[in-house]
Amino acid sequence: MQLTYLGQSAFHIEMNGTQLILDPMISSNPLASHIDLSSLHSDYILLSHGHGDHVADAETLAKQSHAKIIAGYEVVTWYENKGFAGHPMNLGGKYKFDFGTVKYVQAVHSSMLPDGSYGGPSGGFVIWNEEKSFYFAGDTALTLDMKLIPMTCPTLDFAILPIGDNFTMGYEDAVLAAEFIQCDTIVGCHYDTFGYIKIDHEAAIAEFKNAGKNLILLNIDQSINL
Ligand code: NI
Ligand code: MN
Repeated sequence: MQLTYLGQSAFHIEMNGTQLILDPMISSNPLASHIDLSSLHSDYILLSHGHGDHVADAETLAKQSHAKIIAGYEVVTWYENKGFAGHPMNLGGKYKFDFGTVKYVQAVHSSMLPDGSYGGPSGGFVIWNEEKSFYFAGDTALTLDMKLIPMTCPTLDFAILPIGDNFTMGYEDAVLAAEFIQCDTIVGCHYDTFGYIKIDHEAAIAEFKNAGKNLILLNIDQSINL
């Protein structure tokens, strides 16, 4: 599975020939100014919640690729009312799509859409098919509910966790999250984009290493196979 980091919490993932984009905020992120939005194709756009740093480019990307938006019920309804195609989910539910199964899981965070509309609860996604399984946590605090993931989903190959602190858990709590979800390969996100969430990369990597885990911090526009 190929994973490309697009900055903040945005990722492009190719899974079974299907292209997914997660939480796109690219054109308004100065750190991602070298990414050409018009070059990004997606079949599905997954949104963890309605905050601007996760949905800013969702409309542009959905329009240019005729992509379907997968998100919580309130977020999808907001986009459907604007004429976009969506697939609504709610916490604890899973659905088998053509690329794999998506389970929409608990996040401890708030949510509001760009115009101030209620965004419903925030969530994360566990996504799997016959080959791979991964967890995209969205924005969340450390929560004991993460322990439910290994009890209810296939063994994770990797997880994408926020590590920037202030608005989400910081990297120290993310190490505990990695323990809760029983996963040793973590891709960090939600750091460095603005002043409140700037982190010391070496300290974050060392914190994971001390717990026997690998924290991967990708450059923006860097791709890896996981
Ligand atoms: Ni948020
Ligand atoms: Mn955020």
